[in-house]
Amino acid sequence: MEKAMIFDTHAHYDDKAFDPDREELLCSMEENGIGTIVNVGASVDGLGDLVKLVEKYPFIYGAVGIHPDDAGKMTGQTLEEIRRISRMDKMLAIGEIGLDYYWHKEETEHELQKKMFRAQMDIAGEEKLPFMIHSREAAKDTLDIVKEYMRGGMYGGIIHCFSYGKEIAAQYLDMGLYLGIGGVVTFKNARKLKEVVEYAPLTQIVLETDCPYLSPEPNRGKRNSSLNLPYVAKAIGEIKGIAPEEVIAVTERNARELLRFGV
Ligand code: NI
Repeated sequence: MEKAMIFDTHAHYDDKAFDPDREELLCSMEENGIGTIVNVGASVDGLGDLVKLVEKYPFIYGAVGIHPDDAGKMTGQTLEEIRRISRMDKMLAIGEIGLDYYWHKEETEHELQKKMFRAQMDIAGEEKLPFMIHSREAAKDTLDIVKEYMRGGMYGGIIHCFSYGKEIAAQYLDMGLYLGIGGVVTFKNARKLKEVVEYAPLTQIVLETDCPYLSPEPNRGKRNSSLNLPYVAKAIGEIKGIAPEEVIAVTERNARELLRFGV
């Protein structure tokens, strides 16, 4: 059997943290067992860089969307741009989209985030693409909107950097969605997430870095990259009592199936 390669479903290599050595770092991925990376859109200004990265590297694919932090910067034109980019060959999903009430406490901000979240979920549905959700301290509102859209028929999705408990996880898993698990699972104080990982079937987990953020132990606090994913696979394997190789193989297959990539 061919050795499974790691599939990083959520990275931000357009981030300026990678400016000093981006080329060198990305060229070292394959020899280190990283097979595929999805670079995920976040800021309104970053969409151009996302497209450039995806066009430059054969193993980098894209998700296009605007993070809730940038909801206030979005216009009708931004939504048209997302739709246009989503039709490009190597764009596999709409993301990251969702709600973040941790940084934004005002009710008016929540309303605006919900409006932009819905507008981007509409694009995912219409363009027949899966979605990638960012949700922080907005458990109920996110779940309500995702449920509403899933009832209308969608093409699957990932709840990225899953940060809620087992009860919320169960509802996403019941809808057939995937949980994105990254560096946090290696942290000593991540009891809630470890419980979620134990509970969720491996067939509904995908690996992600969210790099440059959320570096796993033993590199916590440093700049993250896909090269750290073996630590995440090892931590998931320990929780589930299986080998890291199995975690890598199954999560790669999950990502390929969801993103309709090479299957
Ligand atoms: Ni992200």
